[in-house]
Amino acid sequence: MDIRKVAVIGAGEMGHGIAEVFAINGFQVNLMDAYEDALKKGLNRIRESLSKLAEKGKVKSVDEVMSNINSFTDLAAAVSNVDLVVEAVPEIVDLKLKIFKEVDASAPRRAIIASNTSNIRISDLAAVTARPEMVVGMHFFNPPVVMKLVEVIKGEKTSDDVMQQVFDLSKSLGKTPVKVLKDSPGFIVNRIQAPELLLLCLIQDKGIASPEEVDALLLGQGLPMGAYELLDFVGIDVVYHSMEYFSKALSSDYGKCSTIRRLYEEKKLGKKSGAGFYDWSKGRPSIDI
Ligand code: 3HC
Repeated sequence: MDIRKVAVIGAGEMGHGIAEVFAINGFQVNLMDAYEDALKKGLNRIRESLSKLAEKGKVKSVDEVMSNINSFTDLAAAVSNVDLVVEAVPEIVDLKLKIFKEVDASAPRRAIIASNTSNIRISDLAAVTARPEMVVGMHFFNPPVVMKLVEVIKGEKTSDDVMQQVFDLSKSLGKTPVKVLKDSPGFIVNRIQAPELLLLCLIQDKGIASPEEVDALLLGQGLPMGAYELLDFVGIDVVYHSMEYFSKALSSDYGKCSTIRRLYEEKKLGKKSGAGFYDWSKGRPSIDI
């Protein structure tokens, strides 16, 4: 099947960036968010990002790319005539299941339904649809416009043809796709990183070292971001929901860590809210100890 028209559900941290990647590559994109404000913010962020790329000659015309994007607050209208849906709503199992049911009811039968979930088993999302063979994981990394990796995840019933189509599509977007053939919580990347996430949280719970101390060491080793800085960048809400999921799907240990829960409850969501482990109100924190 020729994939030309794509709907991206959710205009937040990942959704806006995923929509941008498709639009840059000439796809017609329906960007949908139930909240008008979130939609506006997402479109503004896409424009800002495109302007940066245009300054470097990586994009010819910001307006031309923007014209590939149509915005929607109604899900059924957004998916009604597309070849592919990429779901990028918050990492909450019940919310994703609800969205999957709605997408399945309104998208054309030919459409592939992909999830950008970082953790939730694709087979569980596929199970609420009438087309589990057309459901696949398409996990981008933040920021999608910069990061090359895409995990393409096979659910228990995903067809080989759909896997290959999404793999080839990811390549055509200039990405480096990797097939994940066993569907398990966190897939490969986040499964590897899950114990580190727990450790980082426990280091704070136990007051072993400050975020600045840990991050200064990691930056000194040449990493592009410190570990706590990256948690803020990804979003404390995303991290919190991941740990909640892991506490049920992997080990109850993930439910024991209090620092992430406290930040989440205090609405210190990291870069997006201006504060998390660090103060982001004046841009990227300077880590200097
Ligand atoms: N749009 C366009 N360009 C962007 C951009 C955006 N949104 N974000 C960064 N860039 C460009 C900058 O313009 C700059 O381009 P240049 O080299 O041509 O000047 C380049 O990227 C580097 O950006 P900056 O100089 O502003 O800042 P950094 O050097 O710190 O790079 C970063 C920013 C690319 C985000 C880098 O810090 C990085 O790689 N961080 C780690 C990111 C990471 O690990 N992401 C994965 C998170 S895990 C995840 O996403 C899984 C999910 O499921 C939760």
